[in-house]
Amino acid sequence: MTNHSQEPLVKATGIVKKFGGFTALNNVELVIHPGERLGLIGPNGSGKSTLVNCISGMLKIDGGSVSLRGEDISSLSPHERVHAGIARSFQIPKPFKSMTVLENIKVVINFSGNLRADAGENRSIDEKAFAIVQSVGLQNKADAISAGLTQVELRKLELARAMSANPQLLIADEALAGLSGAEVDEILELIMGMKQKGISVLMIEHIMSAVMQFSERLMVLVAGTKVADGNPQDVINNPEVIKAYLGE
Ligand SMILES: Nc1ncnc2c1ncn2[C@@H]1O[C@H](COP(=O)(O)OP(=O)(O)OP(=O)(O)O)[C@@H](O)[C@H]1O
Ligand SMILES: [Mg+2]
Repeated sequence: MTNHSQEPLVKATGIVKKFGGFTALNNVELVIHPGERLGLIGPNGSGKSTLVNCISGMLKIDGGSVSLRGEDISSLSPHERVHAGIARSFQIPKPFKSMTVLENIKVVINFSGNLRADAGENRSIDEKAFAIVQSVGLQNKADAISAGLTQVELRKLELARAMSANPQLLIADEALAGLSGAEVDEILELIMGMKQKGISVLMIEHIMSAVMQFSERLMVLVAGTKVADGNPQDVINNPEVIKAYLGE
């Protein structure tokens, strides 16, 4: 079990997000502890992507605050939040199709300032990039042009790119969508392995078997409101959660 006595990594309080007159998030609370695996589910359009966009800074909030290790980051840009330790693969520029796998990783290492962060480590950017490529099992494709990668290889590249920013929080929004059963297992294993690196993961996913395997804690959004947050088994047996899914 995760040790919850320590300070949360991320704490979002009273998050409100409006699109015109429509309230997409209504006073949502979210806490992520260091190294924790948090699952986020909810019917289509319930505000899951909007919430993670508010955490990563892609969207400006209309109310509430977001803090990282106790510091208010509500006014930081997405780029500044990457530097601070929040990696959402979409917010890092998309892979350059004409570049090799290794070159794509090097771009993110430079973009995120990750190389400077451990200059004392004495590793060249090439060594560092190759180690990251290896950690997602793409070592045989290191010099391959990204445009030629299969879908599952592209997901691995996305994860490698997120890792290149040296994050404390990885946000995975439907990283498993469109993959075959065996591929789902492969990518899920990589995402679950982040814990060994001390990285917290917030995963949005519709495949319930993957959600239940992944989540140490599960949070449910329905129409922009949090309706459940806790032990995954308890949460999926919660009558309000069952009603939200059956009523879809
Ligand atoms: N940029 C935007 N402008 C206007 N409305 C938006 C915008 N982004 C999201 N919405 C609306 O906010 C609501 C929440 O959308 P969001 O994408 O967060 O849902 P979601 O839970 O991620 O759904 P899904 O499971 O389909 O990915 C939806 O009604 C959506 O139409
Ligand atoms: Mg979404």
